Amino acid sequence: MDPTILVRGVRKSFGALEVLTGVDLTVDPGMVHALLGPNGAGKTTLVNILATLVRPDAGTVTVAGADPVRDPVAVRRRIALTGQAAAVDELLTATENIRMMAALQGLGRRAARLRSRELIESFGLGPAASRQVRTYSGGMRRRLDLALSLVVAVPVVFLDEPTTGLDPSSRRELWDVIRSLREGGATVLLTTQNLEEADELADRVSILREGAIVAEGTPAELKRAVGQDVVELRGPGGEVLHAEPTDGSPAGLRDALDTIDALGLRGELHLRRPSLDDVFFAMTEAAPGSPALTGRTPA
Ligand SMILES: Nc1ncnc2c1ncn2[C@@H]1O[C@H](COP(=O)(O)OP(=O)(O)O)[C@@H](O)[C@H]1O
Ligand SMILES: [Mg+2]
Repeated sequence: MDPTILVRGVRKSFGALEVLTGVDLTVDPGMVHALLGPNGAGKTTLVNILATLVRPDAGTVTVAGADPVRDPVAVRRRIALTGQAAAVDELLTATENIRMMAALQGLGRRAARLRSRELIESFGLGPAASRQVRTYSGGMRRRLDLALSLVVAVPVVFLDEPTTGLDPSSRRELWDVIRSLREGGATVLLTTQNLEEADELADRVSILREGAIVAEGTPAELKRAVGQDVVELRGPGGEVLHAEPTDGSPAGLRDALDTIDALGLRGELHLRRPSLDDVFFAMTEAAPGSPALTGRTPA
């Protein structure tokens, strides 16, 4: 099956500033792919290129079978981009906003009513559906914004830092919505600075650093590349008294515990698994292509 998103050798500069220096990215159908990188790494620039809003200087791009440069209309028909629907009207209710968007998109009255009911339900806006949007929390607005971009169902969804600035509970609610998009068969490209988010949601993760992909893989692969599980014995202040590597299996853990036991130290046991934080740290502290991870070398 052809990838839903295919990026090869994409470069983009703004004046003298080289923002993307040769990006390669492949996203297969039905995947949630996280593009993880710090502020200023070029995430939004890449998403905007895929969404036809910015022209690349070089390289090739395909989104849902179409070329964003040569055939932007075809691409736009197949994608949703959050933030695009800045059309949220504060004085209308969620239901009214969705029905208005549906009318703008050419849906009939009955179809609009059905679609708004579906979206309200699947985005968890039911209890607030008939309240004016100005009374909504940040998380509810974000969910409504996403619902508005999906009034017409599309195969590819771009979420550019969908949870930045949300409190933890709103963030989790949005995560549920993103999971349900995936269950509905959408291909999702999600940008984030949040490692936990990539780990929670993504089938695959690409790490963007200074305009290039420096590592790519499943969250588990990236974690494995960085290191193995460690059993730590921590003192009363949380300081690590001893760290014993383990393969995480029952037998391996038993061995690690025996070794720690034999030390005769007192403390609290913790199992520390490598997190995406470790990956991110390794990739942003080390030079690109460092032995910590073998990233895909840019074309
Ligand atoms: N239209 C633009 N003109 C000039 N510089 C830009 C423009 N868009 C983005 N940049 C710069 O490109 C870099 C990458 O930005 P961006 O793609 O927004 O990164 P991210 O989304 O990862 O934070 C930043 O230094 C930003 O200031
Ligand atoms: Mg951005």
